[in-house]
Amino acid sequence: MDKIAAVIVAAGRGERAGAGVPKQYRPLVGRPMLVWTLHHLMASTDVGLVQVVFDPGHQDYYEEAASGLDLLDPVAGGVTRQESVLNGLRALAPHNPRYVMVHDAARLFVTSELIARLRAALEEGAQGVIPLLPVTDTVKRTDAGIITETLDRSALGLAQTPQAFVFQALLEAHEAASGQELTDDAAVAEAAGIMIHTVAGDPGNMKVTMADDLDAAARRLGREETRTGTGLDVHAFAPGDHVMLCGIRIEHDQTLDGDSDADVGLHVLVDAMLGAMSEGDLGTHFPVGDPAWKGRASSDLVAVACDLMDKHQARLIHADITLICEKPRLARYQSAMKVRIAELLGVDATRVNIKVTSTDGLGFAGRGEGIAGQAVVTIAMPVPWT
Ligand code: CTP
Ligand code: MG
Repeated sequence: MDKIAAVIVAAGRGERAGAGVPKQYRPLVGRPMLVWTLHHLMASTDVGLVQVVFDPGHQDYYEEAASGLDLLDPVAGGVTRQESVLNGLRALAPHNPRYVMVHDAARLFVTSELIARLRAALEEGAQGVIPLLPVTDTVKRTDAGIITETLDRSALGLAQTPQAFVFQALLEAHEAASGQELTDDAAVAEAAGIMIHTVAGDPGNMKVTMADDLDAAARRLGREETRTGTGLDVHAFAPGDHVMLCGIRIEHDQTLDGDSDADVGLHVLVDAMLGAMSEGDLGTHFPVGDPAWKGRASSDLVAVACDLMDKHQARLIHADITLICEKPRLARYQSAMKVRIAELLGVDATRVNIKVTSTDGLGFAGRGEGIAGQAVVTIAMPVPWT
């Protein structure tokens, strides 16, 4: 049977949700809201072509959100939601779909079950069908704050999207209603005399309207996982006059040998961050012998790891670093190291811990041949889609 083409209206300004990034592009648990909406919608095998209607002023946000998704090219919306829908329907017309559903980008919790209910109604012959929720609160009519009537709530319902229709019927209804101000597509279809059926709405299919709704949506998604990475590194001493450890310069009668400034503390930190993100290791990102990294401060490596964290929408929860050597004595630098690393990571210092230890004179560290470091990093990042 025919799939249902979808018009996703995402051309609004999201004014009630507050200033900043428009609500449909606001990151929720690491992904823009529109990505969640499209992902949930396209998980349904009942959905065919997907036409997003956007504000070309949001081009950059849109491209980031839509990347990798199988969508028709977006079309520009209008001043009202109704105009935006009409633009979306016109863009779909050349594809001549049998059915269409119109859905708000702001309802990210749409489910395959809800879409299946709509499709079943269309296949039974409905020209239009929308999800409706029962009204559970008592509803009053008021005039200047004074109640004039208690309405019979059993005869009332709350309309949601997606709202599904025979494509041609909805397109004609929208063309005819162009210029009027009707609040949903069912109202447009009603005005054209189309009988609209209802199916059970989904209480979870909330619309994000206010800033608080964004927080509630993020809590409901809750799809974040905790990951751990470890790092281990050793650098040998060489002739010199100082060592760099955890971003702090420490005067010493030797230095550490290596391509960069050989900061073993930062190297293990970066390796642990890369490990937590499943991004390989230092060698993957900074090949040994690469002239670009010769003599560079290891803080630049941390900056690259932080960029990768941003790319993965990951947050650092905690970093615990251990430095192992006989000399120099490091205890008095611990707090400066902690502060410096927190600064490099852009986190509060309570999320960083530095430990220093010796090996009781045993092994290469005990013999004063070099310094070893070890790190464990804990991050939070969005759960992968699959
Ligand atoms: N919408 C649209 N074109 C418009 C107005 C709204 O495509 N001219 C879309 C919105 O992007 C949203 C849906 O219609 O996905 C429902 O509208 P609403 O929740 O009111 O969103 P906004 O208009 O963006 O928000 P606000 O009214 O708070 O500015
Ligand atoms: Mg609006």
